[in-house]
Order: sequence, then C-alpha cells, then structure tokens
Amino acid sequence: MSSELSRSIDQLCERNSLLPACFQEDIVREELRRIAAARAKNRTERRRVLVIGGAGYIGNVFIRHLLNAGIDVVSTDVLMYENAPLAMTSWTHSGYTFIKGDLRKSNEIDSALNGVSDVVLLASLVGDPISKKYPTQSQHINVDATQSLISSLRNRGLNKFIFVSTCSNYGLQPDNTPAHEASDLKPLSVYARNKVSVEEFLLSQNWDFSYTILRFATAFGLSPRMRFDLTVSEFTRDMFLRRDLLVYDADTWRPYCHVEDLSTAMLRVLDFPIETISREVFNTGCDANNFTKRSIVELIHQRIPDAPIRYKDHGSDPRNYRVNFEKIRNVLHFIPAKSVADGVDELIRAMQSGVFDNADAHPNFYGNRSIPLFDTEAVK
Ligand SMILES: NC(=O)c1ccc[n+]([C@@H]2O[C@H](COP(=O)([O-])OP(=O)(O)OC[C@H]3O[C@@H](n4cnc5c(N)ncnc54)[C@H](O)[C@@H]3O)[C@@H](O)[C@H]2O)c1
Repeated sequence: MSSELSRSIDQLCERNSLLPACFQEDIVREELRRIAAARAKNRTERRRVLVIGGAGYIGNVFIRHLLNAGIDVVSTDVLMYENAPLAMTSWTHSGYTFIKGDLRKSNEIDSALNGVSDVVLLASLVGDPISKKYPTQSQHINVDATQSLISSLRNRGLNKFIFVSTCSNYGLQPDNTPAHEASDLKPLSVYARNKVSVEEFLLSQNWDFSYTILRFATAFGLSPRMRFDLTVSEFTRDMFLRRDLLVYDADTWRPYCHVEDLSTAMLRVLDFPIETISREVFNTGCDANNFTKRSIVELIHQRIPDAPIRYKDHGSDPRNYRVNFEKIRNVLHFIPAKSVADGVDELIRAMQSGVFDNADAHPNFYGNRSIPLFDTEAVK
C-alpha cells in the first residue's frame, strides 16, 4: 500500500472513529473500491471534490471539513453576494483550488469539472424570498442550468454526485405528522418547486454515476458567510439587538440543523458504500431539532429576557412541516451533534465579540436579500 493511500485510510478511520464497528468496516471497504475503480480508469486515486456554490453559507464550512479530512477541493462560485473574499478563505491550503464560474455557463463549469472524482451541488438561488424576487433567474439557475450540469456529468467516470435539496419541499404537512422521504411533496414556493423539479429529473433517469439527494433542514450556526435571513440566526440577532421582532404564525413547525452537522452529513455520503447511498433521498437533520417559531423565540428569551416580541397570525409563508429523520439516522448513523440552543449560544457569543457590528451595512453579504447582478428583473 502506498504511503499516500495508507494516510487517506488513516484519516478516513479517524473521522469515522465514533461510528459502530460495522459502519467503519463498510467505509474502509468503500474507499478501497473507489481507489480500485479510479486506478482501472487510469485516474488519480486522490479524492478531489468539486463544490459548486462553495463560497456560500454552507459551502464555506463544508470545504473546511473536506480539507481537514485530507480531501482535495475545487470550489466554484459566481460570487453573487459580494462574497468574493470568501473564495480566499482556504487559499493557502495546498489541496484547495478556486475557479470563478457560473453554473449557467457550461464552458466555465466544464473547466472546473476537469479531473474531479465527486461533485457536490450547493449553488442555487437559496430561499423563498430571493427566488420569488428573481423567478426567471431562479428557473435558469435552480432548474435549467442544474439539469444541464447533471446531464454533463455523464461519461466522466464520476464517482458520486450529491444534490442538495430542501425539507421545504414538504410545504404543508397535515396534522403535524412528521414527513418522511416518501411523504407527498407539497412545494409552496418557486424555490421548493425548483428543487422538486430537479429531484424528479434525477430520479426519473438512469445515470452512470451514483447520486444522492439530501433534503436539508433549515440551517443555523456560524459560517464565514453568515446568513441573517435564516430563522434561528435572524431571531437571535434581532433579539440580541432588542429590535422589534414580529413573528408570524408562531406555532408552525420546521426542522433545523447546524452547518457543521450538514457538512458531516455530506462527508458521510462521500464516505459510505455506494450501494447504501446511490439513488437515495435522505432528510438531513434530526427529530429533536424540529421546532416551532414560538419555541425558538422562548429559547432565545431564556437568554435575553428583555427582548421585545410581537406575534401575528396569517403571514405570507404558510409552510408548516415537521420532518422524520429516522432514515439518515439508521442508514448513515447520522446524529447531529449540535442543538438549536447550541447555535443560539454560539451566535450570541460571536455578536458579543463585535464581529457582526457592521452587518447592517452589508445586507447582501449577510443574507440572500438582493442580487445587484439581476436587478433589472427583480419583482418588487
Ligand atoms: N441554508 C439553508 O437553510 C438551506 C436549507 C436547505 C437547503 N439548502 C441548500 O443548500 C445549498 C447551499 O445553501 P446556502 O445556505 O449555502 O446558500 P448561499 O446562498 O449562501 O450559497 C449559494 C452560493 O451559490 C452561489 N451561486 C448561486 N448561483 C450560482 C451560479 N449560477 N453559478 C455559480 N454559483 C452560484 C452563490 O454565489 C452562493 O455563494 C443550496 O442548494 C440550498 O438550496 C440550504
């Protein structure tokens, strides 16, 4: 065994050392399979993962996880949120390459695809408000360009492709019954309809690479590209600043997951045997992090009792879904380490340190609020 190969197996075992022994054995067998397949195709045996949308909120954290795991990364991003400095975060790491690229431009994505073993697609117009504001671009990026990318992955000897989707696809679930992967999808927004279209596209065809659909819970937690347009962080910041927080439809449910844990989940898909993850859909989060908006506010109130709150019914976002995470727990042994309370506490500590004092001056960097690049088509 070459020294590089034994180092990669050591790193693999170390990062999965807390998993039950049977999972660890499967993971080592999978790595040996992957390497043998790469050798048979005359490709480098080093893993090189292309992260499309790598300069975003989740991408920044995920890339750090990959590099720490000894995996090389090519990150590509069009940098639409004034987030160019974030392409630099890992610049000095020898395993990191950044290629500025637009998912809508096949030549740019083609050069990023050169020599990669696996692809993770994070790039998207993310969230209901931004997709509603730019519906045409949303269709172009989230559906048309995404489907073109997927089609272009054929005949490349690709190992694994991860499509990051959303639990928002469940929209409005009856009687607060937790939705599992086979529950009816009821997308209520342009964003969720876009994600469902791509899921259907992937699931309806035969591909010569393994693919996995991860339906992420709403993210929270610190990232170099912090997003204050996501519930836990938005509420925590507004309450920390004693702003007048108006919470609509306080008793609606949604699941949440820390960005570090979402990164672990993606890494787990890359590590796990292909027969376990291929053509599979996983809700990504944990049952304990299903929360109503009111329970999040109460949790923050315990820490900031004098924060003003108002509640109102009949807001513009009718989503209400609890989600069942049994499958990812059983199949990938994925159990998020961080609770919503952990996320609130870490954000309060960061705000106390003053790192976000200037966030209001950069609304697009700190949230998906508007994209100057697309402003001619914005729906007001
Ligand atoms: N953040 C969440 O709560 C959440 C929840 C569920 C699913 N997801 C999914 O996770 C993924 C990442 O979300 P995020 O929170 O990091 O979002 P984000 O908006 O912070 O990051 C998306 C990145 O993609 C880039 N991008 C957008 N269009 C592009 C294009 N045409 N070409 C190249 N790059 C482009 C943006 O510049 C940005 O850096 C998305 O697919 C999203 O749907 C996120």
